[in-house]
Amino acid sequence: MLLKLGFILCILALIPIKSQSAVLSIDLGSEWLKVAVVNLKRGQPPISIAINEMSKRKSPNLVSYQSGIRLIGEESAGLIARYPDKVYAQIRDLIAKPYGFTKRKIDSFYLPYQLVEDSRGVAAIKFDDGEIYSLEEILAMIFDYALNLAEFHSKVAVKDAVISVPPYFGQAERKAVIQAAQLAGVNVLSLINEHSGAALQYGIDKKFANDSKYVVFYDMGASSTYAALVHFSAYDTKEYGKTVSANQFQVKDVVWNAELGGQDMELRLVEYFVDEFNKQLGNGVDVRTSPKAMAKLKKQVKRTKEILSANTMAPISVESIYDDRDFRSSISREKFEELCEDLWAKALVPLKEVLKNSGLTADKVSAVELIGGATRVPKLQAKLQEFLGRKELDKHLDADEATVLGAALHAANLSDGIKLNRKLGMIDGATYGYVMELHGVDLVENESTKQVLVPRMKKVPGKMFRSIIHQKDFEVSLSYESKDLMPPGVSSPIFAQYAVSGLANATERYASRNLSAPVKANLHFSLSRSGVLTLDRSEAVLEITEWVEVPKKNLTVDNSTTSANISVEASASANASAEAASGDSAEGNGNLQNNSSSDSSSIPGATEDNIAEVTEKKLKKRTFRVTLKVAEKISGPAMSFSEEYLSDAKRKLAELNKRDAERRRTAELKNDLEGYIYSTREKMESSGDVEKVSTNEERQSFIAKLEEVQDWLYMDGEDATAKEFEERLKMLKAIGEPIFFRMDELTARPLAIEQARRYLTEISEIVRGWETKKSWIPKERIEEVLSRADKFRKWLDEKQPEQDKIPASSVPVFTSEEVYDKLAHLQAEVAVVNKIQKPKPKIEKPVKNDTVDEKAENDSKTTSGTGEETSTDKEGSENADGNADSEAEAHDEL
Ligand SMILES: *[C@@H]1O[C@H](CO)[C@@H](O)[C@H](O)[C@H]1NC(C)=O
Ligand SMILES: *[C@@H]1O[C@H](CO)[C@@H](O)[C@H](O)[C@H]1NC(C)=O
Ligand SMILES: *[C@@H]1O[C@H](CO)[C@@H](O)[C@H](O)[C@H]1NC(C)=O
Ligand SMILES: *[C@@H]1O[C@H](CO)[C@@H](O)[C@H](O)[C@H]1NC(C)=O
Ligand SMILES: *[C@@H]1O[C@H](CO)[C@@H](O)[C@H](O)[C@H]1NC(C)=O
Ligand SMILES: *[C@@H]1O[C@H](CO)[C@@H](O)[C@H](O)[C@H]1NC(C)=O
Ligand SMILES: *[C@@H]1O[C@H](CO)[C@@H](O)[C@H](O)[C@H]1NC(C)=O
Ligand SMILES: *[C@@H]1O[C@H](CO)[C@@H](O)[C@H](O)[C@H]1NC(C)=O
Ligand SMILES: *[C@@H]1O[C@H](CO)[C@@H](O)[C@H](O)[C@H]1NC(C)=O
Repeated sequence: MLLKLGFILCILALIPIKSQSAVLSIDLGSEWLKVAVVNLKRGQPPISIAINEMSKRKSPNLVSYQSGIRLIGEESAGLIARYPDKVYAQIRDLIAKPYGFTKRKIDSFYLPYQLVEDSRGVAAIKFDDGEIYSLEEILAMIFDYALNLAEFHSKVAVKDAVISVPPYFGQAERKAVIQAAQLAGVNVLSLINEHSGAALQYGIDKKFANDSKYVVFYDMGASSTYAALVHFSAYDTKEYGKTVSANQFQVKDVVWNAELGGQDMELRLVEYFVDEFNKQLGNGVDVRTSPKAMAKLKKQVKRTKEILSANTMAPISVESIYDDRDFRSSISREKFEELCEDLWAKALVPLKEVLKNSGLTADKVSAVELIGGATRVPKLQAKLQEFLGRKELDKHLDADEATVLGAALHAANLSDGIKLNRKLGMIDGATYGYVMELHGVDLVENESTKQVLVPRMKKVPGKMFRSIIHQKDFEVSLSYESKDLMPPGVSSPIFAQYAVSGLANATERYASRNLSAPVKANLHFSLSRSGVLTLDRSEAVLEITEWVEVPKKNLTVDNSTTSANISVEASASANASAEAASGDSAEGNGNLQNNSSSDSSSIPGATEDNIAEVTEKKLKKRTFRVTLKVAEKISGPAMSFSEEYLSDAKRKLAELNKRDAERRRTAELKNDLEGYIYSTREKMESSGDVEKVSTNEERQSFIAKLEEVQDWLYMDGEDATAKEFEERLKMLKAIGEPIFFRMDELTARPLAIEQARRYLTEISEIVRGWETKKSWIPKERIEEVLSRADKFRKWLDEKQPEQDKIPASSVPVFTSEEVYDKLAHLQAEVAVVNKIQKPKPKIEKPVKNDTVDEKAENDSKTTSGTGEETSTDKEGSENADGNADSEAEAHDEL
């Protein structure tokens, strides 16, 4: 572990700009959530996994809501077997899917959730208090949990995040994840495809200058499988004037099966064992109808599968699975592999296809890196080895953490406050191709109205521009390029639709002018870093040619450069105004911008020297741009939430968070009260000193109070409020604390007095020392010290007999704390006086030979300077060597 941290430390020298910048990355898996934090604190590794409240490096991706108590992550995992209908799993795989798909999916997993179809046609879940939550809201709870883990880990506020998503996430899924994160208050720097995260983590510590290569990342997680082909290379670039080699990777292709993963193997085992148990039960009973039984079985089957990865035989044991009956059985690895026979073949398909598409043979691929939990299954590894013709597969990456660590690197790269010393360029592509289609009156729908806007694997992010000749308002729809390659569950290829208006009006307004070109509409699209495609804006372009009066220009030289110079200026200003117009949507109301383009009537060959104040008529081409109104009008899974919906959802989530915080505080206070009662009763009974410092009545009344509160705690106190616990604890402490204080003082006070008296005797020795060895110390200062010591002694002499007179059960005359306080003051003063320096006698310097002196000084300076520099250099290089070593070792470990 230490080695690994050291390794990460050395490859990343992070230079802080802001004092406390921290960013996080979230690997949103189907079953597990992993969180990493990039934090710039001295003495801490810059990138680390945020462990959860159980000190685990990954948390179950679960939310439960049961009897008004919401639990997230680790805490809700314990409830699955008891409340299978109230622990919500698989949220990532259900988000932004059509209702029917979600319903089928949860049925196949025997998850008895109460689904409700919302206005988008997407499933929402009804909690047991009747409140309906969208899957985005549930995912927001998980993101909130991730934020808390990150903040708890890094001890600073963290909001900026990169979130990893599977490559097959389409437009609706990506938008839903971003919206869910926003609901949780996460500022999404970007989404990142899982394979890019892994590729980043793989490449960040490597050099590809003379070693460009292809690597396949093969990932089988709980619910999906993919193979991504990535090319790592280097190119030369200039940095501070020097040519340096920069590393980069480009994702060439990725092929997936979004419905094949470790869960499918588990389901095979579940079905097998259910059949066996049904047979044991007889009477035609089917345990599949009991969600609780299925939940219990599913939980145990996970263990069985894990055991089979390392053993040839594994047991299964489920207590009281159904009707108070236990289920015990076992299965051999052979049988398990037979049950999953068809899955092994399917698992190879993404790898085969990604190689086939690229035209590469397996031996041209330098490494096939395995990631994802399900790649630990021996049979799968054997199949992959067989296909690749290799003895060993590459496991240089941490199968669980590669993606989240790579995503953290990306987050650091995107944040303003953190600079990465190691650079790795990342080029990922759109995992789907997208087409644009135009609809509208008078639009002849042909090849020009439907065209590919983003070819598959086109570099992300990017901007696209299209211009159409049209005069009426129209609509633009965006859809997946191929109906055969759409995100799982998606039934309609169209994911976005926009109404573009204002074009007809603009055309009409300019109808009387001399249009020199047909009216055009420009469309500006963008494909965001997260892979979300949108139509950002649109404007009408009207070109008019008119005669206008212009002042004549002074043309001095008969040279073609003259007109060239003029036209350069003219078009430069046209560009500037075009930009101004496009940035401002208020331009649509007839307040038009004149973008005069190049002067069509520059007079070549003009030789006149001096024709000032004279105008001439010129035929000018002017371009007007009118911003068009773009309204998103899609309904369905990809629809964005309205502002009202979002603010309402935020309020709901904040309310739940508040209730959680109250619940935690109540539990804490209850725990404090319980703990206080137990420890106090024990102290009262076991310590003989209690009797010395308290009266009989006092003790009896206190014990009675303790018993009373204890009884209350287990009766009415079971569901009491935080305030009630707090009040009772305060009341008990008001009685108990003075007793225990007196008890502590029984030993603490005499000890303090002893120390004080010892010091008071030492003082005379110290003063004697000053008088002999530090004669320069002023007499007054010594007098002051002695007087203070004397006062302290008198105070003790007076208080001590007073205290001795009263019983130990009374309020003490003085406390050990007072004694220590006075002692500390005295000691501080002694220290100050002790430090008084001997005044320095003025020594007259002998006149030296200046020339010689100066030279000598200079010499010594330079030598010592160089000496230091050399030694730092050495240290640096030694460090680098040491790092290289640990790098190699870390890899061995992995
Ligand atoms: C790459 O190879 C060239 C010549 O073979 C060599 O000069 C250069 O130093 C190498 N670069 C790296 C980074 O190894
Ligand atoms: C980091 O940022 C640079 C500059 O924007 C970019 O070229 C590079 O691809 C980024 N790399 C990663 C891993 O995000
Ligand atoms: C498509 O139709 C438009 C008229 O709306 C026409 O101008 C264009 O030439 C057509 N394109 C093709 C490829 O047929
Ligand atoms: C066209 O302009 C008129 C008035 O100038 C306005 O009332 C109307 O709403 C506009 N139509 C569109 C589609 O913008
Ligand atoms: C209209 O534009 C054409 C060139 O496109 C020009 O020849 C003509 O003179 C213009 N007419 C008017 C009235 O401006
Ligand atoms: C005209 O421009 C050319 C270059 O474009 C230049 O070489 C020449 O000297 C110029 N003539 C005069 C008269 O300035
Ligand atoms: C054209 O512009 C360039 C740069 O602005 C300038 O150096 C040159 O003298 C100009 N030529 C004439 C003929 O004005
Ligand atoms: C034209 O040039 C002459 C001198 O060359 C100058 O006096 C006059 O002001 C100029 N006119 C304009 C409009 O720039
Ligand atoms: C200083 O020393 C140099 C040589 O060491 C000598 O020539 C010079 O006379 C000396 N100057 C004085 C002022 O002593």
